[in-house]
Amino acid sequence: MQMQKNNEYLLKAIDAFRKRFFVISTEFEILAINQGDGKEGSSIGSGKKCFETFFGQNEVCGYCPAKQIFLSREPVMWEADKDTSGEGRGSCLYAYPIISGDTVEALAIMDFQPPILTGLEEKLQRSNAFFRNLMLSSVDGVIAADKTGKVLVFNDAASEISGHGVEEALENLDIRQVYPEGGAKEVMRKLRSDEFGGKGKLKSCQVDFLRKTGEVIPISLNAAIVYEGEKEVATIGYFHDLRENIRMKTELEKTQVQLLQSEKMASLGKLAAGVAHQLNNPLGGITLFTKLMMEEYTLEEGVMNDLKRILKDAERCRDTVKELLEFARQTQQRMQLNDINRAITRTFFLLENQTLFQNITIHKQLADNLPKVSGDIQQLNHLFMNIILNAAQAMKGAGQLTVKTMLEEEKDRVRIEISDTGPGIPDEILSQIFDPFFTTKDEGEGTGLGLSIVYGIVQNHGGKISVKTAPGKGATFVIELPLGEKEEKTL
Ligand SMILES: Nc1ncnc2c1ncn2[C@@H]1O[C@H](COP(=O)(O)OP(=O)(O)OP(=O)(O)O)[C@@H](O)[C@H]1O
Ligand SMILES: [Mg+2]
Repeated sequence: MQMQKNNEYLLKAIDAFRKRFFVISTEFEILAINQGDGKEGSSIGSGKKCFETFFGQNEVCGYCPAKQIFLSREPVMWEADKDTSGEGRGSCLYAYPIISGDTVEALAIMDFQPPILTGLEEKLQRSNAFFRNLMLSSVDGVIAADKTGKVLVFNDAASEISGHGVEEALENLDIRQVYPEGGAKEVMRKLRSDEFGGKGKLKSCQVDFLRKTGEVIPISLNAAIVYEGEKEVATIGYFHDLRENIRMKTELEKTQVQLLQSEKMASLGKLAAGVAHQLNNPLGGITLFTKLMMEEYTLEEGVMNDLKRILKDAERCRDTVKELLEFARQTQQRMQLNDINRAITRTFFLLENQTLFQNITIHKQLADNLPKVSGDIQQLNHLFMNIILNAAQAMKGAGQLTVKTMLEEEKDRVRIEISDTGPGIPDEILSQIFDPFFTTKDEGEGTGLGLSIVYGIVQNHGGKISVKTAPGKGATFVIELPLGEKEEKTL
């Protein structure tokens, strides 16, 4: 009795269901069917084949979900993209097997298009596509990979930075290949530790990245492990090329150093200028009164000679003061045509009487008629001063210092060579000598700024600087400076 009641309710429920619902035999004969409009009246066993009844066909439909069940014994949903028949069914959307013992006894079929589920799926697909788009259009490179290393996501920016095509990366690239040897392991180690942004995360970490060309470049990487529960299933990384940032940072540091040095030079200059002015007046007095004595008195020859000596030395002092004032002239960077030979001569004039130079023989081989170079005279003075001082310091005040100037063969540059007979520059430090603050001198003896300033000045003037050296055979600094425009034309 109860059983019968149950069955009755079941049938009523099936009738009330406003979709077509029917049961077929394995021979596609309709065994039971509801009205499909919510009204009562399910009929049992029409005996006709489903494809005849619903679609007026003589044989089973091309893509029939029921047909699939004989192979899979699992419920099947009609999938538009698998239906090559072009029939585009509006019914028979879902089928499931009614199994008795080991065999499929019958099949239940519905035009099952649950509106809620379809809507959700569509929404889900849309939001998936949105997120995918979001990820792919990132200006940062984005690469996601599964736990075997297979690349799953690879956007255009990743392609630009790495040099791998998007398709090519998705098909063949293994995530380990975008890092130099051992790099991927290191990134995973950092990701798993909680020191770099929390467990499973890596925040703004500079790592080496291997481009397709084999070039290793620095990148800033933000990455995460994707978990399903506790299980690691994938990794995703957002990154950008750091080369430009690093270049700008270095440039900025260089500018800061130059600023520091020019401030230092400026205050030294002020000091020198102040002292020079103070000396000028008494010097003028000494010269004037010596001359007066020589003219107005009849003097013994010995006294006369002494006065001449005083006059000569006073004049020499005046020249030094003049050069000092010229050297320390307080000006903004001012480009003008300069005689390089004169700048070198002036530098020596100021240096050669220093104790450091007492046992240094200076050879000047300055080309005649050297065309002028466009530049800032104060900077050029500093340039020669720094190199010549380094040479004298390297020779510990004893040796040969040679300065040559010449016009280059292409006649568009002046070449200056400054050589010493010191110990030379060891190979292992050669690449660092132009770095700011690199010095081999003891604390207090050198700041390590000299050559970095020299480098900056040469660059400012559009020139080049290089060094030739061998252990025990001294060092030669070669500077090439472009000619001033007018000079070039008149050649
Ligand atoms: N002619 C040279 N022979 C041998 N080594 C040299 C020579 N010129 C420079 N160097 C090396 O290059 C380093 C850097 O030179 P740089 O002029 O930049 O700094 P510094 O002379 O040490 O200090 P600063 O010039 O600031 O007083 C020196 O410490 C020295 O080791
Ligand atoms: Mg120096």
